[in-house]
Amino acid sequence: MGKYRRHFTVVAVLVVLGTVFMDWLLRTVLYLPPEASTQARIVDGLLRIHIALIAFFFSLIVVFVAYSVIVFRARPGEEGDGDFIHGHTTLEIVWTAVPLVIVIVLGLIGARTLNEMTAPQPNEMVIQVVGRQWSWTFTYPDTGITSSEMVVPVDQPILLKMESPDVIHSFYVAEFRIKQDLVPGRVTEVRFTPTQTGVFLVRCAELCGTAHADMRAPVRVVTQEEYQAWVQEQSAQPADDPVALGQKVAETQGCLACHSIDGTRLVGPTWQGLFGKEEALEDGRTVTVDEAYLYRAIVDPDAEIVAGFPPGVMPQNYGEVLSEEEIQALIEYIKSLQ
Ligand code: CUA
Repeated sequence: MGKYRRHFTVVAVLVVLGTVFMDWLLRTVLYLPPEASTQARIVDGLLRIHIALIAFFFSLIVVFVAYSVIVFRARPGEEGDGDFIHGHTTLEIVWTAVPLVIVIVLGLIGARTLNEMTAPQPNEMVIQVVGRQWSWTFTYPDTGITSSEMVVPVDQPILLKMESPDVIHSFYVAEFRIKQDLVPGRVTEVRFTPTQTGVFLVRCAELCGTAHADMRAPVRVVTQEEYQAWVQEQSAQPADDPVALGQKVAETQGCLACHSIDGTRLVGPTWQGLFGKEEALEDGRTVTVDEAYLYRAIVDPDAEIVAGFPPGVMPQNYGEVLSEEEIQALIEYIKSLQ
């Protein structure tokens, strides 16, 4: 060891410099969205520890390898073998114990972080979330409001109780650093406290079928006053206008993920100008889009598929999910889109 002291000193200095450089480089090139919740700060704290460790181990390995390759290379005319070293008990104990300690410490920090992220907060506001193929609905039990966008007051601790009627989805908001699966038959929970006003996006983070990529919804973080105003506005909406009710149903039940109202072709036929149209069907027949056809298309979508659209995409359960009144309102809404 003694004759290598100078080499070890040089390598140690290079490892320290490499660690500092790699740590800086990783923090610079890794793009992270803004931290917009209490949970985001907690998660990023954990991430920073991991980045520092990654930088250290990367430098440790690369510096040792590069130093050996360059400094101990075979010079011209050198034909002999290198020193043969067999077994080094101290080294073996060290390289077993050090990673063990690191992994245990990271495990403890991880557990503490998870506890902090999921700890119940005082004055939590509960929002019920339904994620389905392919939309999100947010219901506020305190006020009875149901909406296709989530609106929350800034600095208000939120508890989401989430359900899925069909397949597994995942509630993910990058700026909040939270991600939680929705599992059919269970209620899953996730907590966050937004710390910045602004508009963020829930994205479904679990592949869930044809329109998975469209399964997004806005999350608006607003001031307490703006939130109260929104609650007033939502509560004042007239429920006796069938077209308005139909529009609400379309927004909250996910219809608009697949059916545009402006003529754009999405996963399913557009609703613009649909009523009264002659549609060619996959089986060669032609139908006139009237109330009766729209009704059948909602409750039994695969019976009469419009030519050029694949069967089996539209959920089959709208006859159970929607009330008779909601189906009629939806038809009125589609009729209004001329
Ligand atoms: Cu829901 Cu992907």
